[in-house]
Amino acid sequence: MTLYEIKHEIAHLASAELQTPDPEGTLWFFKELLGMYETHRSGASVYLRGYEDPYLWSLKVTEGPVAKMVHAGMRVSSPEALERRAAVLAESGLPGGWMDGEFGYGHTYWFHTPDGHEMRLHWEVEHYHAHPTMQSKILTRPSKKPLQGIPVKRIDHLNLLAADVTPVKETFEQHLGMQTRERLVDGPVEHGAWLSSNLLAHELAIMRDGHGARGRMHHIAFFYGVQQHNFDAAEMFRDYNVMIEAGPDRHGLTQGAFLYVFEPGGHRVELFGDPGILEREPDFDTKTWTMEDIDTVTAIGGAGLPRETYFTYGTPPV
Ligand SMILES: [Fe+2]
Repeated sequence: MTLYEIKHEIAHLASAELQTPDPEGTLWFFKELLGMYETHRSGASVYLRGYEDPYLWSLKVTEGPVAKMVHAGMRVSSPEALERRAAVLAESGLPGGWMDGEFGYGHTYWFHTPDGHEMRLHWEVEHYHAHPTMQSKILTRPSKKPLQGIPVKRIDHLNLLAADVTPVKETFEQHLGMQTRERLVDGPVEHGAWLSSNLLAHELAIMRDGHGARGRMHHIAFFYGVQQHNFDAAEMFRDYNVMIEAGPDRHGLTQGAFLYVFEPGGHRVELFGDPGILEREPDFDTKTWTMEDIDTVTAIGGAGLPRETYFTYGTPPV
């Protein structure tokens, strides 16, 4: 299959599992402040979803010694797409294999990126069906909007750190058909790549790790879709002593309205105030930004991203 033919094999980002040393604080953050619903508990893990997440969970919070992303899951576009992507990944020599038994997700192919991040591909999923008292009158919404915090609708995107961006980017491009919509370069060095397989500007970003570490996460993002919510959330975070790193402002790259905070377990979480640019062209050109435009790349309004944290901090911390 050509790259044009495989470009819709990945449907969307579905889920992520975060390990936290402070499960009480992390769950307070996601449930009370971001209004995510708890759908299940098992062992050291709690499963959460936003009110427009379609499946049983989009965020699994697991107690553990350090803050780190354990895995992230993407849904493929058909059972055949899963077989095809698994075959290509197995052929590539990257560590991987079939697994079963994750709550809410069926037969799954897992693999490691060249930097060591664990990714999973699913076709079989369990959709969320709300109790009749919690069903929304809006038919495209799987459950009522919750009454607490400033509730997020759904998982939006994932930003991974890599010691070397290019091989990770190429894995998602060549084996999964994802497209690099934008990238940031410093001379010959690729500093970041923003990839998608659908209308969204990005569902996966890979940025160069300032410490040269491998397999870390920069941030996970959840979607509001309303820019004002980022300001409302900033007020809430300020009042409840959640550390704000940057924003609210708008990135030039992806055009996304951002707000970055640190949840009590140590993960950087982004609130995404709107979808950013939507890509409709089948033959768009990848846009390449250079360091001369870094101010526009990071924040159109000039909020800036603090160098002492934004370009070095990730989870697990080093
Ligand atoms: Fe982001």
